[in-house]
Amino acid sequence: MSRKKHKAKQKGVYEMKVLFAIFEAEPFAKSGGLGDVGGALPAYLKKAGCQVRVIMPKYSGIGSIYRDKMRRVAKFQVEVGWRRQYCGLEELEHDGVIYYFIDNEYYFKRDGFYGYYDDGERVAFFARAALESLLYMRDFKPNVIHANDWHTALIPVLLKEICGGLPFYYEMKSVFTIHNLKYQGQYGLAVMDELLGLRGHTAPYEKMGLADGVNFLKGALLYSDAITTVSPAYAQEIQHAYFGEGLDGVLQARAGVLSGILNGLDYELYDPATDRALFANYSSANWANKAVGKRRLQEMLNLPVQADTPLVTMVTRLTEQKGLDLFFHIAEELLAEDLQLVVLGAGEWQYEQHLRWLGSCYPQKFVPCLTFDNDLAMKIYAAGDLLLMPSRYEPCGVTQMIAMRYGNLPVVRETGGLKDTVRPFDEYAKTGTGFSFANYNAHELLFTVKSALHLYGHNRPLWDKLRQSAAEERFSWLDAAQRYVRLYEKIGARA
Ligand code: GLC
Repeated sequence: MSRKKHKAKQKGVYEMKVLFAIFEAEPFAKSGGLGDVGGALPAYLKKAGCQVRVIMPKYSGIGSIYRDKMRRVAKFQVEVGWRRQYCGLEELEHDGVIYYFIDNEYYFKRDGFYGYYDDGERVAFFARAALESLLYMRDFKPNVIHANDWHTALIPVLLKEICGGLPFYYEMKSVFTIHNLKYQGQYGLAVMDELLGLRGHTAPYEKMGLADGVNFLKGALLYSDAITTVSPAYAQEIQHAYFGEGLDGVLQARAGVLSGILNGLDYELYDPATDRALFANYSSANWANKAVGKRRLQEMLNLPVQADTPLVTMVTRLTEQKGLDLFFHIAEELLAEDLQLVVLGAGEWQYEQHLRWLGSCYPQKFVPCLTFDNDLAMKIYAAGDLLLMPSRYEPCGVTQMIAMRYGNLPVVRETGGLKDTVRPFDEYAKTGTGFSFANYNAHELLFTVKSALHLYGHNRPLWDKLRQSAAEERFSWLDAAQRYVRLYEKIGARA
């Protein structure tokens, strides 16, 4: 930063303004890691020196303690193709950050967040609504709009194609962050006219087009001024066909503006010393109560109460991404070992059925908890000795970071954020914060778990040393936020 800018910044004159658009943000809405990011990163961007505001849908599931405090800023009509839809703009300050909520009951008064037949129309509405909302935000004209995942991918597209001709939007830049490349928003060509009002615009057909359709995420990749993803390793991986989900070519072409910024963990929220969900609190300075948590969980789940039997855990969405196929392939061999296994998660039907069946075969050793229950998840992190995360791909992953903090050593596949966050056990240097294996191969998973169990059984002092290193590892949101700010400056966003 130049001296002049630096001085101005110190005086508070210069301040980058960022509008952060995302479909999930804790504590308002969370179905996975995206919600953690929406809840944590904005406050850290503020600490890193920007003025940041967040914009997201007003879902009916948002708790009334928040809904009741929202204040209406404006109401207006938004064009969605040939339709004109009501849009309310509401605001609420949370954690020192202003959150805006886009209100439209037709689109957002539904259970959950996604998975509806008209998701394409809902995200098209949201993108237009977010861009038009800028005109109603007092004292806040962003220099950058930072969009996240396919749900907000149309923002950079429409910013250039629809708003680009209007002076108000001239200098606005856009950043797009990929949290999961698998979900892209692919529709028939008709949506260009039907939802986006882009008939007659040639560029979007070239940029977002597939052979016979439109890909919203591809649009974001080609229209944004910078692209990020949530770990350096994933930023490299997605430029190859195995991880590229069909967009590796586009990502290679955009490699010059693509970078990986590792997510952080909120160490105040995830702290075994204060976590109210735990049976007993403990810290890395005094581990004694971790054993209490293990005993109480064994009692609660009707497992034999055995302090020295390793407790292996999984806390996961039950989807292919999370490596469940590997797990099932070796589950019975794993259950032949002297261990207990607890899996918490909900998701695809065939995985749930498989887990139920395994549970009925090994009632003394294996308990499937087929739900998404945050309190129980925390109890499991705290009680566990090992946490399995054999993901096929993992943009960043939060589970392994939480597990480390709670002294539950992760066994991960070396991919994406897992590779960037877990230091694998080195038996010669006697260091590490977990265990890892390279290939998407079930027996590599099994052998890695077996060698971890061996260490647990035969060298507890070394095990305790790894556990200590894991609990003391820090993935800082402030670091991440500072990197984003440097990126905003680099793409020439001018305050
Ligand atoms: C997605 C990814 C996960 C990442 C999270 C937040 O849920 O699957 O790896 O941690 O987004 O960026």
